[in-house]
Amino acid sequence: MLLDQGDAKIVLNCADVYAAAGRQDKAALLCGNFLERHGEEPSVREYLQNLNSAPSADVMHSDIAEALVPSFVEQRLDSAASIINYAIERFAYTKYLEIGCLDNATFDQIRAPYKVGVDPVSGGTHRMTSDTFFEISDDTFDVIFIDGLHYAEQVYKDVRNALCCLRKNGLIVLHDCRPSEEIHQLRQAKTYVWNGDVWKAFMLFRQESTLDAITADFDHGVGLIRMRPNSAPLSLEKSYLELQWHDYEMHREEWLRLSTEEDIKHWL
Ligand SMILES: C[S@@+](CC[C@H](N)C(=O)[O-])C[C@H]1O[C@@H](n2cnc3c(N)ncnc32)[C@H](O)[C@@H]1O
Repeated sequence: MLLDQGDAKIVLNCADVYAAAGRQDKAALLCGNFLERHGEEPSVREYLQNLNSAPSADVMHSDIAEALVPSFVEQRLDSAASIINYAIERFAYTKYLEIGCLDNATFDQIRAPYKVGVDPVSGGTHRMTSDTFFEISDDTFDVIFIDGLHYAEQVYKDVRNALCCLRKNGLIVLHDCRPSEEIHQLRQAKTYVWNGDVWKAFMLFRQESTLDAITADFDHGVGLIRMRPNSAPLSLEKSYLELQWHDYEMHREEWLRLSTEEDIKHWL
């Protein structure tokens, strides 16, 4: 079941359940997320203030909490699709765009009420390139998954266009940011696994002061970008297309900002 986090009453009911189970931290997280996304709402603000000033509950009714927790809180993150679904539930996102759909393996898993998929060959809902789609569409989206043509220049263009149609508090998700072998990141695909040089485009966004970006350290590296001040800006001397595999090997942890499941939940 999806938790409707746009409804203050439902959020407060769930927060009550957490608080009764001694999980004031999770109750506060729910209220905080609501206020961040929907602005000031007196009942939620007051609830959060009372929560912060109240002593912790002595008794832990963990069985109640386990039975009634909203699904996203404990959700396992191990793929691009799981991150996208987690974000959809946590932030009450409704509009999803996927660039590059192939056989809809990810597209079909996404639990959003409104989905658009763009691919010139197969899958999705729009048979065209990403460039054409962004040119003709004036739609906006909460979460945009970019997994089309894996050349750094195209990825750069796709992310730039995606930023222009991203809704407030939206999220950009970028597949294939963390190649594990040199051969996987060549411009010419030579193996079944082909990440292309997506990582080089990601390096540009890691340096921007108005964008915050990290990479999930699984599923070929899932880059996540939000429009907010960069919390760990990078400064590189080379231009992105000059970057080499040996640079990447030496610095990938820091450059990509490789992150665990827990880091991602906290960062989001
Ligand atoms: C790696 S596959 C996508 C996989 C899919 N997102 C998934 O998770 O299963 C890349 C797809 O990008 C598509 N593609 C290639 N060039 C494109 C472009 N310029 N714009 C949009 N999609 C493109 C290809 O046709 C291919 O289906």
